[in-house]
Amino acid sequence: MNLLAIESSCDDTGAAVFQNGQLLSNVVAGQAVHEQYGGVVPELASRAHQQHLLPVVTAALRKAGLTKDDLDAVAVTQGPGLLGSLLVGNLFAKTLALALGKPLLAVNHMRAHILAHFIREPKPGFPFLCLTVSGGHTQLVVVRSALDMEILGQTIDDAAGEAFDKTAKLLGLPYPGGPRLDKLAQTGNPRRFAFPEGALDGYNFSFSGLKTSVLYFLKKETAANSAFIAENLPDLCASIQHTIVQTLLRQLKKAVLATGLHQVALAGGVAANSGLRQGLQSLAEAEGWQVFIPDFEFCTDNAAMVGQAAIFQYEAGDFASQLTSPDPRLKLH
Ligand code: KG4
Ligand code: ZN
Repeated sequence: MNLLAIESSCDDTGAAVFQNGQLLSNVVAGQAVHEQYGGVVPELASRAHQQHLLPVVTAALRKAGLTKDDLDAVAVTQGPGLLGSLLVGNLFAKTLALALGKPLLAVNHMRAHILAHFIREPKPGFPFLCLTVSGGHTQLVVVRSALDMEILGQTIDDAAGEAFDKTAKLLGLPYPGGPRLDKLAQTGNPRRFAFPEGALDGYNFSFSGLKTSVLYFLKKETAANSAFIAENLPDLCASIQHTIVQTLLRQLKKAVLATGLHQVALAGGVAANSGLRQGLQSLAEAEGWQVFIPDFEFCTDNAAMVGQAAIFQYEAGDFASQLTSPDPRLKLH
């Protein structure tokens, strides 16, 4: 079974090819156009998808040594995401499936992030707990099977990646600030400045308080010393990162205790964060958890995870009709 998967939910255009469940190629084109605006501009994102999609799909097929006529199914991210971006991928996938007379699979982006753990070994066994942390989402999910997931908690405002990016912006770092803040944090003192954590009752998260607190703290300090940020950058980054990581780990630990699940998986682009990885590894050692973190190329937005989720759906006979629409607010189910 040869499957082509397409991802276009935000600002990365991805295509991946699988053969009999094995990943043959995974191609992603990012969009540098957003850097000058300090965030993703939806209209520019959909235009860039239009430019990138055909070359990306062509490259993925070529790398896999296949042509479109070898395909048995086409998968695409249905949502959640930016409507214009989703439309480009959906229209392309539907048209291709229709022209080839092959089935279409509509994939939930959040489910795909979680199922990225099944692309390569080591894979968690069901059930397990997954913390999905990306630029758009922060969710704690009980994963009973590939098709049966329950959200235990999620952010009520900003996502963890957004918290990294927005606080990095306040520090004057270019977009996307998350990875840059991470790098600077590695030489800083995480306990130098105290910011409020965003762990709420239950399993939800809130990161908008952190953003506001950093904003007012920097305003106050730079009024007294205009070089405050420049003189304290690594410590500021380390302290902010420490706060976000502690918030995530606090809720994760609560969820492990409540569910009794000791297999803990990390998904989404923020899984690349060195502080989160180290914090999770040491907590896991202390608590006796088994931790799963996919390769970085499968953590950030990519089409391989979409293809992996589609394979589970294909096996379950869960096909989409040509009438299936992209859904920017699609919920995890
Ligand atoms: O999963 P992803 O590629 O896209 C979404 O679906 O949102 O995640 C991108 C997010 C961005 O907010 C980016 O700043 C953040 O992941 N990110 C990081 C790091 N690498 C990526 N945040 C903190 N530390 C990192 N090393
Ligand atoms: Zn994503």
